[in-house]
Amino acid sequence: MSLNAVLARIDETLPEATDRLFALLRIPSISTDPAYKADCAKAADWLVADLSGLGFDAAARPTPGHPMVVGHSGGEGRHLLFYGHYDVQPVDPLDLWDRDPFDPEVQDTPKGKVIRARGASDDKGQLMTFLEACRAWKHVHGALPGRLTIFLEGEEESGSPSLVPFMQDNAEELKADLALICDTGLFESTQPAITTMLRGLLGEEITLTGPDRDLHSGMYGGAAMNPIRVLTKIVASLHDENGRITVPGFYDGVTELPDTVRAQWQALAFDYRKFLGDVGLSVPAGEHDRTPLEMIWSRPTCEVNGIWGGYTGAGFKTVLPAQAHAKISFRLVPGQDPHVLRDNFRNHVRTMVPFDCEVAFHEHGASPAGVMDISDPAFEAARGALGEEWGRPASYVGCGGSIPIAGFFQSILGMDAMLIGFGKDDDQIHSPNEKYDVESFHKGIRSWARILAALS
Ligand code: BES
Ligand code: ZN
Repeated sequence: MSLNAVLARIDETLPEATDRLFALLRIPSISTDPAYKADCAKAADWLVADLSGLGFDAAARPTPGHPMVVGHSGGEGRHLLFYGHYDVQPVDPLDLWDRDPFDPEVQDTPKGKVIRARGASDDKGQLMTFLEACRAWKHVHGALPGRLTIFLEGEEESGSPSLVPFMQDNAEELKADLALICDTGLFESTQPAITTMLRGLLGEEITLTGPDRDLHSGMYGGAAMNPIRVLTKIVASLHDENGRITVPGFYDGVTELPDTVRAQWQALAFDYRKFLGDVGLSVPAGEHDRTPLEMIWSRPTCEVNGIWGGYTGAGFKTVLPAQAHAKISFRLVPGQDPHVLRDNFRNHVRTMVPFDCEVAFHEHGASPAGVMDISDPAFEAARGALGEEWGRPASYVGCGGSIPIAGFFQSILGMDAMLIGFGKDDDQIHSPNEKYDVESFHKGIRSWARILAALS
């Protein structure tokens, strides 16, 4: 059977596939940092060359930010669009890495072989699972599987600022029957999963300014406004004693989980003690009356991602700082409008800013939550294909993270998105020592071959 020949080809060529992934991982395509702009372009060009070699009509398409990579195959039948992102998160703190984040290597660990590098899991390793499945398919069949569009973004990790205009300007070209996204994970690192809910994200940076320069805290302390004191009060005001967020109107439009979804999640028997235990914690810290799975998948949150001001270097300095800063993000669920919440948040902060203190806001992206429509029979077909590969049935799961494009496929292009990925909870994405299991890479490629066979 030809699927078996494709799977065998994947097994035989895993070393070469790993080498290709390494070449992509060596390019430091950190989208949020302007210093890496040329590297983002280089990663896009590398992908265009790889896609062209595979027989796609591919190009790097300029945007005001980083290029989009778009490739089309000429085949017939159901038109599938595959999405992944070639940009990666910054690597700091660099001193916590065991090796150069952009010098990938396969390492033996007690839990198996891993590919260690920034982007190994999020998302270069994942996007290459799809391209490698296409490569093996083409080798066996002499042609790519059906009609495919490949769409790779270089700004996913920095809020996707160019995405909506690009999708609007190229809607006809990008519209397909179904989108496939490989940027999520397995369930509890072991079970194949199709993600049906993603949270949205609202990012805000606030800067509070008090005196017009840093002051001696002995000379001025007591009499002068300290913006760090104001900032910490604002941050502390964002949650009540039950873990609920206090921004006015924050829960407007938020609904309870549908019973069917609640039942699916209960059947997953999520082990939150292990989930938290793996990162050195023990007690869920969210809303008091919610289950841990709800806390991460279906409830909105507010987190402080960074806070700074004053003297933070070695030793001690009695300074009364002129400024204090915080980066704050909100994970959003269906029913919440990020733009309304941005206004509500800013108004809430403004009410807390006293005399002699000024606040400035800087926005960092706003994307709504997404709920996937899984009525297309392709979902059940893919679930079956995943079950074949992993030896256990695939589950429909939620995801606490955000992938802005998933919602835009629906709202701009009117197409459903199927989210399948092979990341594991301990991949340390966005953290030092990111890795992707060789098993995820290998079985991920095989999974896509099976899914493509099932869908074509
Ligand atoms: N791959 C992640 C999304 C994800 C996170 C999937 C956790 C599964 C588990 C994606 O690359 C990501 O990090 N998204 C950002 C989006 C943001 C920068 C707009 C996120 O969720 O923080
Ligand atoms: Zn990410």
